[in-house]
Amino acid sequence: MSRRVQAVIIGSGPAGLILSQLLLHAGIEAVILERRSQDHVLGRIRAGVLEQGMVEMLERAQCAQRLHAEGLVHGGINLAFGGERHRIDLATLTDGKHVTVYGQTEVTRDLMEARAHDGGESVYEAADVTPHDFDGDHPYVTYRKGGAEHRLDCDIIAGCDGFHGIARQSVPEAAITTYERIYPFGWLGVMADVRPVNDEIIYANHPKGFALCSMRSKTRSRYYVQVPVEEKLEDWPDQRFWDELRSRLDPQAAESMIIGPSIEKSIAPLRSFVAEPLRFGRLVLAGDAAHIVAPTGAKGLNLAASDIYYLHEALVAYFKDGSDAALAAYSGRALARVWKAMRFSWWMTALMHRFPDTGAFGQKIQEAELAYLVSSTAASTSLAENYVGLPF
Ligand code: APR
Ligand code: PHB
Repeated sequence: MSRRVQAVIIGSGPAGLILSQLLLHAGIEAVILERRSQDHVLGRIRAGVLEQGMVEMLERAQCAQRLHAEGLVHGGINLAFGGERHRIDLATLTDGKHVTVYGQTEVTRDLMEARAHDGGESVYEAADVTPHDFDGDHPYVTYRKGGAEHRLDCDIIAGCDGFHGIARQSVPEAAITTYERIYPFGWLGVMADVRPVNDEIIYANHPKGFALCSMRSKTRSRYYVQVPVEEKLEDWPDQRFWDELRSRLDPQAAESMIIGPSIEKSIAPLRSFVAEPLRFGRLVLAGDAAHIVAPTGAKGLNLAASDIYYLHEALVAYFKDGSDAALAAYSGRALARVWKAMRFSWWMTALMHRFPDTGAFGQKIQEAELAYLVSSTAASTSLAENYVGLPF
């Protein structure tokens, strides 16, 4: 069975869903092909710190109502080191900008509901999705569903299928350059239905390693501790996690921490990855399909929205005015912002984590940089403007 649509979007994660809604509202017909079920996609545990730019993208996609109703607006973040905690006043340092804590799962749910409500077409459990002929003028995508082979002829294929997706893998090796940094540690994360230890996020630097106190709501907390990359989950019963987390925080947080049974526990490796360029004829990449940031700067989800900011503008110009100029500029514009976020996430990771070669001298240097950071308006302004999100 074959038919023609204007665009095929591979992947129903945040990148694919935001793009699909913006194209739909621009009257451009796009079909999403997702290999997993809707419940599986919604079942993924991911972060949830939204830059203002991301919130504006969701408003443009007309699905920010619940975000505004339930999201937690944070005007600051906290850095804990040397037994003390220091607040970075994001709002004052950035003329009123802030971040919003709202889980990626909730963002994905809102986008899926908006798409269903607006009559957008998504094919879940689409197997063997394969892009074809995107280096020519007649690209198409094939997939299997319900025991039948399907073909979608289109003008543009948007690869929003994450790091392990088919889109980037379909690009000839000679046409793509990749840059990668794999960190020698991971994050052990726990989700628990306990009141968060603080009403803002705490990033902790400690000789025993990094720790992070975040939340999903006023009654659900998300905590992380840095662990060696080969660590085993079974070696971390809840009580050991809580003891280790508290031992890395300032005394006030350690004493006021409310603990409880974990409802989710997992270890995630840390890497930085960028693929260049983002356009290959009629195939474009966006989101995790093109880049992965270390989670320390909370940029992963926001970079997916950032790419879509540039890509949807380019596709509207392409389909509405037949102009290829914006599409030709997409890769450069999106990657310029990707690398700045990559640098910030790498810098936050280097500052806050314990590396095998950190040693006593390295620890002192980290603490000196943190002491400078919290005592210098210039330095904390740089942190704040990167954290709330650089302009598109
Ligand atoms: N065919 C169809 N769908 C696929 C394929 C394939 N071959 N491979 C992957 N997918 C789907 C995945 O099942 C997933 O639902 O593509 C989707 C990609 O979604 P994400 O991985 O969430 O990527 P993205 O939309 O770019 O969002 C980036 O996700 O991982 C977080 O930190 C990251 O927050 C960032 C956000
Ligand atoms: C999270 O809430 O999961 C979270 C918050 C901040 C980060 C990373 C993850 O930098």
